Amino acid sequence: MEIVVTLDQMRSWHDTWRRLGKTVALVPTMGALHAGHLALVTEAAKIVDKVVVSIFVNPLQFGPSEDFSRYPRDLAVDLEKLAQLGKTDVVFNPTVEIMYPSGASLTTVTVGEMSQVLCGQSRPTHFAGVTTVVTKLLHIVQPDVAVFGQKDAQQLAIIRQMVHDLNFPVKIVGVATVRESSGLALSSRNQYLSPAEKNQASYLYRGLTAAEELFRNGERRSRVLVAQVNNILASAELSAEYIECVDFESLCQVDIIERPATLALAAYVGPARLIDNITLDPGH
Ligand code: PAJ
Repeated sequence: MEIVVTLDQMRSWHDTWRRLGKTVALVPTMGALHAGHLALVTEAAKIVDKVVVSIFVNPLQFGPSEDFSRYPRDLAVDLEKLAQLGKTDVVFNPTVEIMYPSGASLTTVTVGEMSQVLCGQSRPTHFAGVTTVVTKLLHIVQPDVAVFGQKDAQQLAIIRQMVHDLNFPVKIVGVATVRESSGLALSSRNQYLSPAEKNQASYLYRGLTAAEELFRNGERRSRVLVAQVNNILASAELSAEYIECVDFESLCQVDIIERPATLALAAYVGPARLIDNITLDPGH
């Protein structure tokens, strides 16, 4: 496993692989790796010859009062986890100066309305930061495939839209959310939680699964499903920033679910802002 810091080093790997006719996948991450990230790497290794994992805490996607400076960073531990898994060929770990040599990116990539709904309501510049850095990473690494988690459903839908609208020559692959046995979705931000808060946080998924049960029994009205999640959250003294049912692809609000939809929420548990979602597919 090679650790690469500069753009030239990364491009030279890409050129070598292209000459050899190898297919390449990129798994973009911000580090603090957990089993969710490793599931993406495992999936990538199944579908291509060479796997690049990027580790870069992207300042552009953090708001001024968000946790950029205290976001968990431990490169040595991350490299150890990737080495143990044994499926990564190159770790791309650029510095902020390498990614943003002029201090910021003067050119940004923004995916309109989709970036302003759900998490975009409280994080208005977040997704432009994500789509800009993902664009840069895709141009630097030039992978055939890029792998993202369904855990960040809005991020995944926005990236799919961007790749479609701007004709990026890359296939986007989504991977199911990896959870603790309590149901809590693995997240680097779970490190901010005390054991009691972690227990409280498990109610986020309990709420979603309670709504899923209603859905499986035929309920198609989104307001009923949202109310169900809200009740379960209230029983754990949690109040959500949002609980919304949106179209799986367009992220537009859905009243009656007739095609795949995402039931998504965000809530503060102690100091951590957590998100989770499930897919509701009336065809299944
Ligand atoms: P990060 O939060 O580190 O997540 C990296 C990838 O891991 C994302 O695609 C995310 O959806 C996925 N992931 C996180 N938790 C997961 C879980 N429990 N199960 C499955 N996949 C999970 O998302 C980002 O970084 C950044 O926004 C990034 C795309 C790297 C751009 O900076």
